[in-house]
Amino acid sequence: MKKLLGMVLVAAATAAQAQEVKGNVEAARDKVAMCIGCHGIPGYRASFPEVYDVPLIGGQNARYIENALKDYQKGVRKHPTMRGIAATLTDQDIADVAAYYAQQKPGSANNPQK
Ligand code: HEC
Repeated sequence: MKKLLGMVLVAAATAAQAQEVKGNVEAARDKVAMCIGCHGIPGYRASFPEVYDVPLIGGQNARYIENALKDYQKGVRKHPTMRGIAATLTDQDIADVAAYYAQQKPGSANNPQK
């Protein structure tokens, strides 16, 4: 009986692992190159489609970043630039960049206090 329970747990853990896409900070370093242009510059305002403060995402919760990017993909969030960018990202890319930004310190160069 004990052995059977163990097997069930292992099977469940394996199934959970297959679904969970794990973010890899190292793999994100190439992928954030195109984000830094907007999100890495303190006080930068995107001028398209209107003058807009670019949110600072360094130190933001990984789950929040993932959800935000998926909402742009789905069109729940409507900002055209971010929708275009999110459309190019795979689930793995999203997990990687979320992990990357989440491990940054709020208040660092990428996320200065105003
Ligand atoms: C051309 C400039 C630009 C680039 C490049 C860009 N972003 Fe954005 N991003 C913005 C703007 C402007 C917003 C705010 C849009 C809005 O209000 O919905 C935003 C919003 C976000 C948000 C939501 C933040 C919040 O506080 O809700 C996340 C997460 C995000 N971007 C991640 C990324 C990632 C990851 C990349 C690179 C793959 C990237 N962005 C590239 C301009 C940019």
